[in-house]
Amino acid sequence: MTTTAEQMQRPPAEVRYADELVRLRADDSGPRPPGWWLSLDAARRFVLGDEAGGITRKFVGDPSLVDRSLITLATNRGLLLVGEPGTAKSLLSELIAAAVCGDSTLTIQGGAATTEDQIRYSWNYALLVSEGPSPRSLVPAPMLRGMAEGRIVRFEEITRCPLEVQDTLLSPLSDRVIAIPELTGPDAMVFAKEGFNVIATANSRDRGVNEMSAALKRRFNFETVFPIPDLETELALVEAEAANLLSRSGVPVQQRPDVLEVLVTVFRELRTGTERLSTVMSTAEAVSVAHAVGLRGWYLRGEPGTAEDVVECLAGTAAKDNPDDLAKLRRYLEQQVPRKGRAGAWSELHRARFRLSG
Ligand SMILES: Nc1ncnc2c1ncn2[C@@H]1O[C@H](COP(=O)(O)OP(=O)(O)O)[C@@H](O)[C@H]1O
Ligand SMILES: [Mg+2]
Repeated sequence: MTTTAEQMQRPPAEVRYADELVRLRADDSGPRPPGWWLSLDAARRFVLGDEAGGITRKFVGDPSLVDRSLITLATNRGLLLVGEPGTAKSLLSELIAAAVCGDSTLTIQGGAATTEDQIRYSWNYALLVSEGPSPRSLVPAPMLRGMAEGRIVRFEEITRCPLEVQDTLLSPLSDRVIAIPELTGPDAMVFAKEGFNVIATANSRDRGVNEMSAALKRRFNFETVFPIPDLETELALVEAEAANLLSRSGVPVQQRPDVLEVLVTVFRELRTGTERLSTVMSTAEAVSVAHAVGLRGWYLRGEPGTAEDVVECLAGTAAKDNPDDLAKLRRYLEQQVPRKGRAGAWSELHRARFRLSG
């Protein structure tokens, strides 16, 4: 039972942009760090885009952040991307992994229940019982595979793991080897092949990196990913991403630019303004609300979404279960929105304020 790329809800970057990767590789004459799929310059163009070469811009942000991240990966230190939720840390790590080794799927999702087995290796118990520990009964997890195959391993939300589980990374990162004491001979040590490295991500809102052990921190270079600073850039990104998601969802109409502008402005003001919410009003959330607004408009009424749909979606994404946030949102719609003008999408938004539930 295989799922084709068209059937996948979200194919990995190396599938979504397979043609771009092939082209970049074919034209790539720059020097490549050992084990890398692309040169640094080609990897950078894959992530940041290159209009002349027909390469789309995928991550919007500081080019020097991308350069530093790539350089880090060519050293023997890991890369740790830190930032608020929804600032595209996961996306950036996926894109960089796809560019550096052609594969972004060696991924460990960190969480309270993550165990060492999910990072290094475990056993196929039926084979373990019948033949004992052997390379055949060994089930490699992403870290072991990344080392053996010389690929990038992604460790998402590393700080959500228990500290002792995080520290499993110490020997792969410093000695570049994983010992498998159950095996004997050459199989008992897996040495990292050129090309192996780790990209971890951590949200500054969750438990954060403060609790990470000093030993592990030393093995990573930290890079902070910031939210998009200006409205125009964020609006253009939300517009493009939502259009993409809507076409995948079978919605054939374009969204209203004035509605999207209102939506993105609302997100920015609730992110940093006087009615700043405790919920994260990230660009990623704005994209998902824009998608939902488009779906509501099309599937409920057969038209592009309106500012009323924005209000309907905000209650569930912005206020969630926090009564203070709901009160702030209400105040914002009552008091600040009317000052934006009496016509168009802003007045629709103001009129729809009663749709906020609760
Ligand atoms: N700077 C950015 N460049 C490109 N996409 C962004 C950016 N910021 C947010 N996004 C949007 O957010 C989504 C990614 O969020 P994600 O990588 O899951 O964030 P994080 O891991 O930081 O929580 C992207 O798919 C894109 O729609
Ligand atoms: Mg993430």
